[in-house]
Amino acid sequence: MNIALGRTKHMLLRDARELICENVHSHMPDTYILGIESSCDETAAAVVRSGEEVISNVVASQTATHSPYGGVVPELASREHLRTIVPVVRKALADAGQSYGSIDALAVTQGPGLAGSLLVGISFAKALAFALDKPLIAVNHLEGHIHAVLLEERQKGNRELLFPVLALVVSGGHTHLYLAEQHGKSWSYENVGYTRDDAAGEAFDKVAKLLGLGYPGGPVIDKVSVLGNPRAVKFPPSQIKHPDRRTPILSQKTRKDGAPIAGSPHLSKSAKGGAASLETKKAAAPPGASFKGWGQPDLDRPRFDFSYSGIKTAVLRYVETHNLKPSIEARRKILAEIPEPKLNDVLENCDRQTLGLLASFQRAMVDDLVSKTLAAAREYDVSTLFVSGGVAANSELRQTFEREAAAEGLPVFFPSRSLSTDNAAMIAAAAYPKFLAKEFAAMDFSAEAGMALK
Ligand code: KG4
Ligand code: ZN
Repeated sequence: MNIALGRTKHMLLRDARELICENVHSHMPDTYILGIESSCDETAAAVVRSGEEVISNVVASQTATHSPYGGVVPELASREHLRTIVPVVRKALADAGQSYGSIDALAVTQGPGLAGSLLVGISFAKALAFALDKPLIAVNHLEGHIHAVLLEERQKGNRELLFPVLALVVSGGHTHLYLAEQHGKSWSYENVGYTRDDAAGEAFDKVAKLLGLGYPGGPVIDKVSVLGNPRAVKFPPSQIKHPDRRTPILSQKTRKDGAPIAGSPHLSKSAKGGAASLETKKAAAPPGASFKGWGQPDLDRPRFDFSYSGIKTAVLRYVETHNLKPSIEARRKILAEIPEPKLNDVLENCDRQTLGLLASFQRAMVDDLVSKTLAAAREYDVSTLFVSGGVAANSELRQTFEREAAAEGLPVFFPSRSLSTDNAAMIAAAAYPKFLAKEFAAMDFSAEAGMALK
């Protein structure tokens, strides 16, 4: 009965919101926003019409540059962004049939991400906005991932969105759960879960590196797992051993430089390259930030946190106790000699035991992500689920979410695979409500490596 009343309330609220939105949109001329994204290892630019149609979408991946290192090397990433940003933006405009003069506004990722990478996109966008005398909108990368779902649903003509929405943003740097709300033109977010250590994508990448499968790990594990036995290795359920380090750190203790010692929501992204960790830790929060003032979780509400460093260690232990190191080294050598290894090259060099280990690892990751997200959905009585970010491209994750959410009568939406991983269309889409609300960035804003979403 209560659930039925709750749902009716949500539907009435939704109808009211839709009426407001329809009125806003019906009087608005088309708005073309050029989005720019450079937070990690993809240089991307896109043109999106009125937050609901991708007109062009260009992504230059740096995989080949970072692959030999098994993770993103921040200095190389910044240099690659510098090299490719001009041609990528030009191509996005040309593909859209637009020019610098014809677009209405620019949008750029402000954070979270690697500081040096973010700065390339931001400096370029600022210079363009200044020269063109066009408004510039600063966008949180995580909000971009959430808006990738909204953008594609609108593009399909689906405006029937039921609130409240629970969004799982799951990528190489993040495993975050947000309750998302729309208030007129703007959106707000409450974090109800995050990873205490490694992000899910980071665990995929580290396990792939450990097993000599190259970088990034997610796509290759996704493909080869289909051929392994997911019950071959039993991983214990993930346990959160250490306390939430952000609470005492952000409210009481900061380092001499004013930054928290650890626990940045973006810390794990930097771990991709290892070398970036100090820089990213430093930029994790504004000096002297207080816990709630920084827009972090409300600790009075139930939390659904994740932890993936344990499973990575369990894989390492399995490798050691089952003497897999010689075969891993052999595979690493063979694959390193193939310029762009294909699935068959990988499969030819993986025995049954390795396939079973990978399939079991993926199954454990998927089970944990899905069960925690659905537990949060139940607790907060949400009406809709979004799953976005690079790991949302994973086939088993999609299938499991679809099956399990359907069993609970919960609609679940993913972006297409190309909009799950980093792109600039999601940045331009997230910028549209800010354009309507005239939330433009001041010219002196800078990159925020540890930017929180609120
Ligand atoms: O969103 P994204 O492109 O960049 C970040 O913001 O981090 O996500 C990249 C991450 C990498 O860790 C990559 O291994 C993972 O997403 N990923 C996948 C798949 N495709 C990409 N993980 C699992 N299965 C996939 N199919
Ligand atoms: Zn991302």
